[in-house]
Amino acid sequence: MTNATRKIFAHSTLLASVAGALLALTPVLSTPAHASTGYYQQFGGRPGTTALINRFVGDVLADSRINFYFAHTNIPALKAALVNQVCNLEGGGCPFNMNMHTIHENMGVTQAAFNALAEDMIRALDEQRIPVAAQNNLLAKLAAMEPEIVTK
Ligand code: HEM
Repeated sequence: MTNATRKIFAHSTLLASVAGALLALTPVLSTPAHASTGYYQQFGGRPGTTALINRFVGDVLADSRINFYFAHTNIPALKAALVNQVCNLEGGGCPFNMNMHTIHENMGVTQAAFNALAEDMIRALDEQRIPVAAQNNLLAKLAAMEPEIVTK
């Protein structure tokens, strides 16, 4: 196993565990409030987050496992929403109040599709060289949204 493979495997295991046993893992994953200061900076602020999302969405649109979901999507609007969402989740102070359940409820998103999208995010995080602690912070928050998004 290469280092990169091992790291992706470790992330995937984390995601699977979070999805399956969120409550049990919460004490391990959560960090004291003051420790989250600086995550948005570790993403590179707005320019870094924009670069991450551009890469991530590009990867998703090239991923034949899931790109059909996005056939009729306004991609610039999707990217803008995701940049704001990551900013909001990582302490950058952007207002974000979209309801993940309402947005995704009629899409028939499967667990496999959710996992594929998570893999694409992990790859983008690695390629953008986001520090691992900041990666894990975001991945845990995305994994926690799984029950709102997977409907099939
Ligand atoms: C934690 C994971 C996810 C997050 C944080 C997320 C976030 C979002 C956000 C913020 C939007 C709104 C974009 C807008 O209004 O322009 C959106 C839309 C969308 N999401 Fe997700 N999403 C997630 C998982 C997924 C998955 C797994 C799929 C399918 C594989 C998916 C498919 C879509 C599609 C197709 C749209 C566009 C809807 C439209 O065209 O109106 N999402 N998502």
